[in-house]
Amino acid sequence: MPGRGPGRAVYAPGMTSNAYLTDLFSLDGRVAVVTGGSSGIGRAIAGALARAGASVVVVARDEGRLGRAVAELTADGCRAAWVGGDLSTREGVRAVAEEAAAVFGEPDILVNCAGVNLRPPLGELGEDVWDTTMAVNLEAPFLLGQRFGPRMAERGYGRIIHVTSQQAHRAFVDSGAYGVSKGALESLARSQAEAWSRHGVTCNTLVPGFVMTPLNARLSADPERVAALAARTMTGRNGLAEDFEGAAVFLAGPASAYVTGQSIFVDGGFSVH
Ligand SMILES: NC(=O)c1ccc[n+]([C@@H]2O[C@H](COP(=O)([O-])OP(=O)(O)OC[C@H]3O[C@@H](n4cnc5c(N)ncnc54)[C@H](OP(=O)(O)O)[C@@H]3O)[C@@H](O)[C@H]2O)c1
Repeated sequence: MPGRGPGRAVYAPGMTSNAYLTDLFSLDGRVAVVTGGSSGIGRAIAGALARAGASVVVVARDEGRLGRAVAELTADGCRAAWVGGDLSTREGVRAVAEEAAAVFGEPDILVNCAGVNLRPPLGELGEDVWDTTMAVNLEAPFLLGQRFGPRMAERGYGRIIHVTSQQAHRAFVDSGAYGVSKGALESLARSQAEAWSRHGVTCNTLVPGFVMTPLNARLSADPERVAALAARTMTGRNGLAEDFEGAAVFLAGPASAYVTGQSIFVDGGFSVH
C-alpha cells in the first residue's frame, strides 16, 4: 500500500494501533512556540502539543502565569519553557522570537493564540484600541510568520496555526477592531499557505465560537447570556479550552500535510446553526 504523503511511514499489515496513531499524530522531536500559552485556549494547546511529544515554548507577558503553566507541564513529564514578552510592539515581538528560538531551537510549529478583545462600541473606539488590537492580534502573527515561516520552508516542514474567532465571519457584541483583526488573520493564513505550502509548511486557522476562558470573564459571569449562547450551538454547550486540543494536534502533525489555507471551526456548530 502506498504511503499517504511525504515523510509518512507506509502502513504494514499487523501494525499496532499505537504505531499507526504515532505515524499520524506524533510530534516527537518537534519544537513548538505557542503565544498566549499561559492561559485559556493557548494553555490547552500548549499542553496538547507537549503531551503529543513536542518541546514547547509558551509566550505571554505575566511571568507568574507563565511559570505556573510550565511547572504544570514539566510535572506532567513534558518538555516546556517560557519566554516573557509583550507582543503589542514590533520590538517586543522580535525579542520574543529570538529568545523563543534560542530555547529548544528553531520551531517547527508556531501557534499564534495570544489575543486581546477590547470592546468599546464602534463610535467610541479610539486609535489606541485599534492600534493595540491590530498589533497583538494581527501584526505579531505576521512578524512571527516572517521570522519563522521561511526557515520552516528551508527545512521542508512547518505548521503555522492561528487562532481567530467567529467574529472573523460575523459581527458579535461590539466586534469593532477585534473582528477586523481576526478577519485579516484568516487572510494572512491563506497568504502564508500560498507562499510556503509547497515547501511542506501548512498554515491554517482554528476558529473558536464562545469559549469559557478569562478573555470572556465579563460575559461568562452572566448566567443568562451563557445559557443563551449555549443554546445557539448544536452541541448545547459553550466551548472549553480543552476542546481545541485534538484539532491543534492534528494541524501540528503529519496527518494534516494536505490541509492548508483553511479555517477550521471548533465551535460546537455555532457558526452553522
Ligand atoms: N474565549 C473565547 O470565547 C474566544 C473566542 C474566539 C476567539 N478567541 C481567541 O482565542 C485566543 C485565546 O483566547 P483565550 O480566550 O484563551 O484568552 P485568555 O485566556 O485571556 O488568554 C490570552 C493569552 O494571550 C496573552 N496575551 C494577551 N496580550 C498579550 C500581549 N500583548 N503580549 C503577549 N501575550 C499576550 C495572555 O497572557 P498575558 O496577559 O500574560 O500577556 C494570555 O496568555 C485569542 O486570540 C482570542 O481572540 C477566544
